[in-house]
Amino acid sequence: MSGEKILIIEDEKLIRMTLRERLSREGYQIAEAGSGEEGLRTLDEEEADLVLLDYKLPDTDGVEVLRRIREMGRDTAVILMTAFSTVTSAVEAIKLGAYDYLDKPVDHEALLTVMGKALETTRLRREVRRHRSEQEEAYGIGNIVGRSKEIQNVLSFVEKVASSAASTVLITGPSGTGKDLVAKAIHYASDRRIKPFMNITCTALPETLLESELFGHERGAFTDARQLKKGLLELADGGTVFLDEIGDMGLVLQAKMLRFLEEKTFRRVGGARDLRVDVRVLAATNKDLEKAVRQGAFREDLYYRLNVVPVHIPALADRIEDVHVLVQHFIVQFNREFKRNVQGVTPEAMDCLLRYRWPGNIRELKNVIERVMILGEKPWLDLTDLPEELVQHAGLSEEPEEHGESAAARMPPPSPANGTSLRDMERTLVAQALERAEGNQSQAARLLGISRDALRYKMKKFGLL
Ligand SMILES: Nc1ncnc2c1ncn2[C@@H]1O[C@H](COP(=O)(O)OP(=O)(O)OP(=O)(O)O)[C@@H](O)[C@H]1O
Ligand SMILES: [Mg+2]
Repeated sequence: MSGEKILIIEDEKLIRMTLRERLSREGYQIAEAGSGEEGLRTLDEEEADLVLLDYKLPDTDGVEVLRRIREMGRDTAVILMTAFSTVTSAVEAIKLGAYDYLDKPVDHEALLTVMGKALETTRLRREVRRHRSEQEEAYGIGNIVGRSKEIQNVLSFVEKVASSAASTVLITGPSGTGKDLVAKAIHYASDRRIKPFMNITCTALPETLLESELFGHERGAFTDARQLKKGLLELADGGTVFLDEIGDMGLVLQAKMLRFLEEKTFRRVGGARDLRVDVRVLAATNKDLEKAVRQGAFREDLYYRLNVVPVHIPALADRIEDVHVLVQHFIVQFNREFKRNVQGVTPEAMDCLLRYRWPGNIRELKNVIERVMILGEKPWLDLTDLPEELVQHAGLSEEPEEHGESAAARMPPPSPANGTSLRDMERTLVAQALERAEGNQSQAARLLGISRDALRYKMKKFGLL
């Protein structure tokens, strides 16, 4: 037995005693109260999983106690015990949320059965609630990190749109900028959060399959359709459907989607009946939809319909100041995940992270931090911990090639002997550049067409420092 706690509110001592005796034998923990007031006080001081409540009490009646328990905001299950079950009090008790009522004298076996069911219901309800709040925490708006004005705009958009009546939202932005994150945040910040969030990636499926996933199909609609199947729109009723990569949706389905967005009705594949649901559609794409419209790959009318409430998430390179907080955010996250205690990154490493262009945006940044934290051991992540390509590219972005002739071209090409490794060649090049620049690192870096940081990184690597 799970040792759940039962509070018995009953003024007759003898009944209390026999109940306690019987229920303790089942492994329950028992608390007792002889009056309504005492019962409420006990409940106020300690949690109970279930209350056995006598209807006729010296100071008040069971229905009144039940009302007060509900006012306290407790979700404790209540079973009412009544010696003269009047229909009205029983109906009232159920209306107030009593789990059930039993006639007195209470038959112990019947009581145990009802209690078992009531406790199971409470357990499930608590579990669902815990799961839901964990989800809200995992997908809530607090997970969108960033200090830039751009990301602050996105955050206030999410808040506004979540509580609005907007039925369609278009989320655009390059890959890895957080479109999924924003879609979930909109759902979990809205009243729809207690209803499903359904997610489908339009690229992943051939068009006909995507159609039946979205709209469902009737039995016999096509060869394999042996059963009626509800689509995501139906399953998400009251909630949100997230159409990821909408730019990849085929033209036929685009037309059907437009009809749904405009009329709120649709038909299952092979169906003749219009079905109506209440869902908010969030659509995301990293494609330039306007261009797709010009090219005839995306319906103009659908584009305008989607674009009524648009939000754009800019590339990380256009809000580079977010790198600081994002790095910190991911360090905290991976410290927890990998049981590490990394403090932060050194100024040199941060400098490099700030210079890099981040073509993969936040996903790439997150991956870099993850990789470094899996492999590294140090409390401060250093330049040498960062992937070499990143350090190199960070250098290139500082000195783009179009600034004059390629610096490397001015170097005499080394002549590798047979079997020389790339690493050796690189070392030779670095050493040569340093020699030519007479030890001046900035000049040597310029000769190699990399940043000074990248050069120092390489010097360290090759033991030239
Ligand atoms: N502002 C942010 N704060 C914290 N984490 C973020 C932020 N933006 C993105 N991320 C994280 O970066 C990763 C990529 O984000 P997401 O999957 O939402 O990108 P996306 O725009 O949907 O990319 P794609 O176009 O490739 O589908 C996720 O792990 C996400 O949690
Ligand atoms: Mg995505």
